[in-house]
Amino acid sequence: MAAAAAVVVDNMSEDQAMIELSDMTKVYNIGTIDVHALDGVSMSIHRGEMVAIMGASGSGKSTLMNVLGCLDVPSSGRYMLDGLEVGALSGNQLAEIRNRKIGFVFQTYNLLPRLTAQANVELPLLYGAGNDRKRRASEALDRVGLSDRTNHKPTELSGGQQQRVGIARALVKDPSILLADEPTGNLDSRSSAEIMEILMELNRDEGRTVIIVTHEPDIAAQAPRVITMRDGVIVSDGPPETLGQGATAAAGEAQQ
Ligand SMILES: Nc1ncnc2c1ncn2[C@@H]1O[C@H](COP(=O)(O)OP(=O)(O)O)[C@@H](O)[C@H]1O
Ligand SMILES: [Mg+2]
Repeated sequence: MAAAAAVVVDNMSEDQAMIELSDMTKVYNIGTIDVHALDGVSMSIHRGEMVAIMGASGSGKSTLMNVLGCLDVPSSGRYMLDGLEVGALSGNQLAEIRNRKIGFVFQTYNLLPRLTAQANVELPLLYGAGNDRKRRASEALDRVGLSDRTNHKPTELSGGQQQRVGIARALVKDPSILLADEPTGNLDSRSSAEIMEILMELNRDEGRTVIIVTHEPDIAAQAPRVITMRDGVIVSDGPPETLGQGATAAAGEAQQ
């Protein structure tokens, strides 16, 4: 019965990477100028990994996240996600994958200001979740420690609390991959630490694959694996203790 309903089926083997990029490029044309936002990126990420992506402003981090999240299509190269070639999928299939597998967390939270925390988290469930919607949104808010703020609107919440609502909204459809583009970029250090703690728990305790973009070396160093980008290419990839001077400098430039 499930087979008939599913447009896209998982056809992944155990040892296969969840995400595999081969020689990925993304070129934006602005008038007569080509901007090579991604200039040949190859890498794999396995299910259950936690990866931080660092690099100066303009190095291609958000472009990479948008491609990983199936929000944008690369100009060339191959993207395999759970054994499926993303480039071969239709718009509807891409939307289905985004919907089913991927949760997004944004730097500016992207909450609707007139809605309560509870209603913001229910939004992704508007179609199809039926009576379950309220319960699932409450559970997601509970998961990020906001059970006592469900009826607050965004302006009645601190930045850290708003980001926790953002994480709850990303979680409510139970995605296997969480993509967070500078999730602590607007937060003080204490709230940043709380948000990182939640993201690390979602990885460690629930096995979700978490990919986080950050400018801050201290934040990146909490991930077991750090990828550093410069000018659309990966310049280092490994545990944080292997980060060379170059990577630290590349991240530092962005902080100024
Ligand atoms: N929609 C777009 N149109 C044109 N150029 C873009 C677009 N998005 C990004 N770029 C360019 O691509 C490069 C990488 O951008 P981005 O991925 O946003 O970098 P980062 O997130 O690391 O700051 C930059 O030079 C940026 O100006
Ligand atoms: Mg960016």
